[in-house]
Amino acid sequence: MRKPIIAGNWKMNMTPSQTVKLIEEIKPLVAEARCEIVVCPTHTCLFAAKEALKGTDRISLGAQDMFYEERGAFTGEVSCESLLELGVRYVIIGHSERRQYFAESDETVSKKVTKALEKRLIPIVCVGESLTQKQRGVTNETVGLQTRLALFGVGAGNAEDVVIAYEPIWAIGTGMTATSAEANGTIRRIRGVLAEMYNPETSRKVRILYGGSMNAGNAGELLSTSDIDGGLIGGASLKSGDFAQIVGNLS
Ligand code: PGA
Repeated sequence: MRKPIIAGNWKMNMTPSQTVKLIEEIKPLVAEARCEIVVCPTHTCLFAAKEALKGTDRISLGAQDMFYEERGAFTGEVSCESLLELGVRYVIIGHSERRQYFAESDETVSKKVTKALEKRLIPIVCVGESLTQKQRGVTNETVGLQTRLALFGVGAGNAEDVVIAYEPIWAIGTGMTATSAEANGTIRRIRGVLAEMYNPETSRKVRILYGGSMNAGNAGELLSTSDIDGGLIGGASLKSGDFAQIVGNLS
């Protein structure tokens, strides 16, 4: 009932010309895919990506961030309207790298989620615990609180459109992955929080992805669990073959 999503978070990699090349490589490899596929290049590569995606409806475009104001004196920021004009449908919000290096807070995440939904962009909201939080045994509390704060003020109807990405910080870019049981367990817990915030039906509809060193080798097991509805892929999304192999698990 929940349509799975494989989303590539390209982070600060790829120039516009490299973006076109990678998309041209990916396109034929995922032509038969049945899940939703999203690629998230940097803002400066979105126009090139939009052009390269012409003629396929298999792959959607996502951005890696956005600002919560409509327009104005916010040097360096990017508005939802600009993203929409570039054909963007999804936007990653609150990635741990933005929380860590760019002072993204639960409050700004919440404002961005609200604005994205208002503008009909689909937010991919990232939550996840640090290694210390995991070692202290507060993973569920941490991701539960992040989820509650990110969706604060969002009604049940809109909440169904939100995509959540559970990304344990200690697993991002490290080659360490949560076991499928661990990841599925935490994602079930996030679903429990959504049921408390809204209702069981809404919580069953929200798609929750796993992210953190997901690759062609481990994706099959992670994606075969009851509650993991896809992946947010960093490193492995930059290699067309690996990305297509991950997508292939859902076809
Ligand atoms: P990774 O990144 O797959 O390279 O660990 C995932 C992410 O940060 O979204």
